Amino acid sequence: MSARPAILVARAVFPEVIDKLRLHFEVETTPDGVAWSPAELRERLQGKVGVLTTGSERIDGALLAACPQLKVVANLAVGHNNFDLEAMTSAGVLGTNAPDVLTETTADFGFALLMATARRVTESEHYLRAGRWKQWSLDLFAGAEVHGSTLGILGMGRIGQAIARRGALGFGMPVIYHNRSPLSPEQEARVGARYVDRDTLFAQADHLVLVLPYTPAAHHTVGAAELARMKPTATLINIARGGIVDEDALVAALREQRLAAAGLDVFEGEPAVNPALLTVPNVVLTPHIASATRPTRLAMATLAADNLIAYLTEGRALTPLNP
Ligand code: DGY
Repeated sequence: MSARPAILVARAVFPEVIDKLRLHFEVETTPDGVAWSPAELRERLQGKVGVLTTGSERIDGALLAACPQLKVVANLAVGHNNFDLEAMTSAGVLGTNAPDVLTETTADFGFALLMATARRVTESEHYLRAGRWKQWSLDLFAGAEVHGSTLGILGMGRIGQAIARRGALGFGMPVIYHNRSPLSPEQEARVGARYVDRDTLFAQADHLVLVLPYTPAAHHTVGAAELARMKPTATLINIARGGIVDEDALVAALREQRLAAAGLDVFEGEPAVNPALLTVPNVVLTPHIASATRPTRLAMATLAADNLIAYLTEGRALTPLNP
């Protein structure tokens, strides 16, 4: 009997997903869920034909050269900026991601962060917990209006469209967006959003949500110049990738009250957080949890596992990035 192919699961996932993979493969996984260092990942990948990654493991030419048996890398994330897709294609390694299954959950969180930021939820809770609340008063933690204010969206993929729907239908917000290519008029009508140029988006949004993919061109695409275009009463929400925003420029804008507030679920050096961000009160910070509900994370892990199974047993992945 020939040995079953060996795969690696680079981070702790649900036991039912491991069980499913074990029906097809010899599975090695991290016993404690702690991320491996790049050197350890390289070592563990020896002899493996597939790996399930979480979006934090960098897959590049150097790693692929050291792991010649590798055929497929399945990311348990829709974002795949941890993949050097060109290097993967030249090495004949397929990359897959986990789109769709997280769209609505991530959009829910985008809205949660927007509302927490605009309505100063965490700032006021800290104040209360610190025992500083002495009396009800008219302007205590007066925040920004959400309903009826202008929602801006940078990046209009699936998650952007799901956020637009929430804003337009749920909160009566005029929704403007900018994207590499505009939606069709029918799609715009369906999600209730209007295409504008980039400068107009920054200038007119009361709440600007970033949901664009992180590519080299998107690095610090929200910098000092863009922040300077925004209204001083506006909020900025980032649920995409930290590197899209120049965090130092953001801190300066928040400190100088050129921007009312920011809500950030992602950070350029995560899990490390720029210490300056921790010193400004008008920012809500969460640890990359936009898709974190159990059903959604299970669906993401299952899709990643199904990609490994489909590709390694039938030669056809479900959501390939570089077929
Ligand atoms: C994604 O799916 O890209 C989320 O950010 C989780 O990493």
